[in-house]
Formats: sequence, C-alpha cells, structure tokens
Amino acid sequence: MARGAEPFRYPLALDTWGEGERRAAIAVIESGQTSMGRRVAAFEARFAAHFGARHAVMVNSGSSANLLAVAALFHARPPLVREGAVAIVPAVSWSTTYFPLCQHGLTLRFVDIDRDTLNFDLGALERALDDRVGVVFAVNLLGNPNDYDAIAGLLAARDITLIEDNCESMGARLGGRWTGRFGRIGTFSTFFSHHLSTMEGGVCLTDDDELHQILLSLRAHGWTRGLTWPNRLAGSDPRGQFHDAFRFILPGYNVRPLEVCGAVGLAQIERLPGFVSRRRETARRLRERFSDLRGVRLQRELGESSWFGFAFILTEEAEVSRDVVVARLATAGVECRPVVAGNFTRQPVMAHLRHEPPGALPNADEVHDRGFYIGNNPMDDDDLERLHGAFRAALARARP
Ligand SMILES: Cc1ncc(COP(=O)(O)O)c(C=O)c1O
Repeated sequence: MARGAEPFRYPLALDTWGEGERRAAIAVIESGQTSMGRRVAAFEARFAAHFGARHAVMVNSGSSANLLAVAALFHARPPLVREGAVAIVPAVSWSTTYFPLCQHGLTLRFVDIDRDTLNFDLGALERALDDRVGVVFAVNLLGNPNDYDAIAGLLAARDITLIEDNCESMGARLGGRWTGRFGRIGTFSTFFSHHLSTMEGGVCLTDDDELHQILLSLRAHGWTRGLTWPNRLAGSDPRGQFHDAFRFILPGYNVRPLEVCGAVGLAQIERLPGFVSRRRETARRLRERFSDLRGVRLQRELGESSWFGFAFILTEEAEVSRDVVVARLATAGVECRPVVAGNFTRQPVMAHLRHEPPGALPNADEVHDRGFYIGNNPMDDDDLERLHGAFRAALARARP
C-alpha cells in the first residue's frame, strides 16, 4: 500500500476488481442486455450453492435485501410476523437494519450489545423476550458471528422469527455454518467496500420455497413474472400469457439489480474464499502485532469472523480521547469511521422511528463514545509496521 518514500495511506477499502470483472462488465454493456437477466440468475445460483442455500435473490443493495426480507415475512401464509408486533434489534447497527421494520409497522425494541463481541448481549436479549415480540433481526457486526447456538436456545418454544442482517459478514462461520444461514432469511451486501463487490448490490438467502417466491415478486413490482410454476402464491391466469404479463399480486418494489452486477458478481464469487482467507490472515497478523498497544482493545472474535474491518474501543488505560486518536490517525493517513452507527438510539432519525423508550445501553454507549474502526486491506510487513507506528503515536499522551 505504501511504497518507499510515499506517504502512508490506509484507506477504508481498496478496489478488488481484476481483469475478469472489468471484462465481464464490458461484455454486458456490449451485449445490449443490461437489465436483469441470465447473468443475475447465474450469480444467484452460484451464490446459493456457495452458501448451501436453496434460494438466492439478488437485489440492488444490502438495504434492499433487508427491505425485502422484512416485507416477505408479512406475506407468508400464515404470516411470520404481524403489524404492531415488536422487533428486537441490537442497539449498534446500520440505519437500514432498522428502517424497514418501522416502515412495515413494527415497533423497535433496542437491546444492548456485548462489549467485546459487539453483537447481541445474550442476557439483555433474553430479558427483552416477551409475547409481543414477533421478530428478532440479528446483525453480525463487522464480520463477527452472533452466538446462534445460544440465540436458538432462547427462541426455542417461542413463536418468534429470526432473520439475519449479514451485510457486513459474508464468509463468516460459526460451528462450521455460514452466517446468513441461521435465520429464515439472511441478507448480504455487495457494496464496494464489502467482501465481494458488485459496485452496489445485495442478496437474500433462504431455504423456504414460499419466501423465495415472495421475494421474487416483491423485488420486481409485485408482479408474477419470474415466478416458477406452480407455486403457492399465484396460479397462472387462465385467460393466457397476455394477462400474465402485467399481473400484480403483492405490494412490491422495484429493487432489481443491473445485469452488470450479476456478471461482476460471477467473477468475484470465484475469488471469495481467497478474499476471506486473506482478511482472516491480515486479522491474525494485526492482532499479534498490536498486542503490545495499551489503551485500546479490538473486537473479540466469536467463531470465524470474516473481519470486515477492525473495530477498536479505547480502554480505561487510554491517555487521550477517541476524537484525538482518530484525528491523529487521519493525519497519519489512516481512514477511520464510527463503529457502524454507534448507539443508534442517539441518532437524530430516531424522531421518525416507532420504538420503545430504550433503557440503559451502556455497552452501545461505550462503542459510541470510545470506538472507531479501520478497514481490512492487504498489508505487507512494512505496511503493518507503519500502521502500528501510526496507532502508537495516536495513543501517546498529548504533550503539555
Ligand atoms: C449491517 C448493515 N446492514 C445493511 C447495510 C446496507 O447495505 P448497502 O450499503 O448495500 O445498502 C449495511 C451497509 O454496509 C450494513 O452495514
């Protein structure tokens, strides 16, 4: 990343496209078939096979994958959640984890995170469960799996649907199972900085045949086109094909991906195992090299994280504030961001969201006030040394 006398730069993310991706994109443009078609279908089949799922539905973003995942639950027969129910969410996540839940008439109940893994605090989750809860939207933060064995135990014998926002954690595993495969639907993002990049993009995975058909219809106008026959949603119109062309059965959206995203995704998914093992190897080296730093701790891995980035929290030992640390790192060429959206209940948009008054969320507050993250980029030994030096200098006590 940094060569010789060049100034050090450690960006949030780097371009991972190679010749294959560029050629695939250009071939789509030259074909003239640029709206969703056979390459998106091929990518979906490949993506589903990679993660051992029956079905994948590609959309234009991870946010849209969340939107469809939530909407689909209402249209299952019988519905998997009903308007007015409570949706349990972790207090630290991205905005579009929360929005579709409110947009579909659910009330948010915020649960604190674990201060080390940064995923659900299991004790807090258990205390939040009651008969009003219809859905738990688990979020695997920054590559790290939730403890799904424990969550399954908590939800057993309750009529609660688990869905998973895995937009930051493609390729992570727990007990040999992929994250994004523990809930009824798992969502993924293929935005630029993510494990696999199609510029913008997202995917829903499910094993449920009915939810699959619902997702297909919701993705494209709520129509029947693209559904496989026969299915439980709709029969074909007895008057013939003409009447099936514009036949609307669900209050859907248009969140289709572009064909070019499918084509690039096909090239990228072949490289996904390499991307993930490279991220894990970088994490191993960084953890080892940074073990002598005082005043910060790194997110604790559960199972096998796919290490979207490296989240740090300033500890009691820190001699300077988080804002000083990130300002110094920025000056040293290291891009930093808040840990996703921090304690989301402190965001101004809360005024627009239906939610229960959040109780104390001390761990989310700690992340909000004392946390930051950096990207996970390929690094040689020289880069790692320079990154370590930047951190050491950023954490040093300010001169009087
Ligand atoms: C947890 C989480 N959910 C959803 C999204 C939305 O994904 P996208 O940016 O592809 O819309 C993101 C974005 O990175 C995310 O971090």
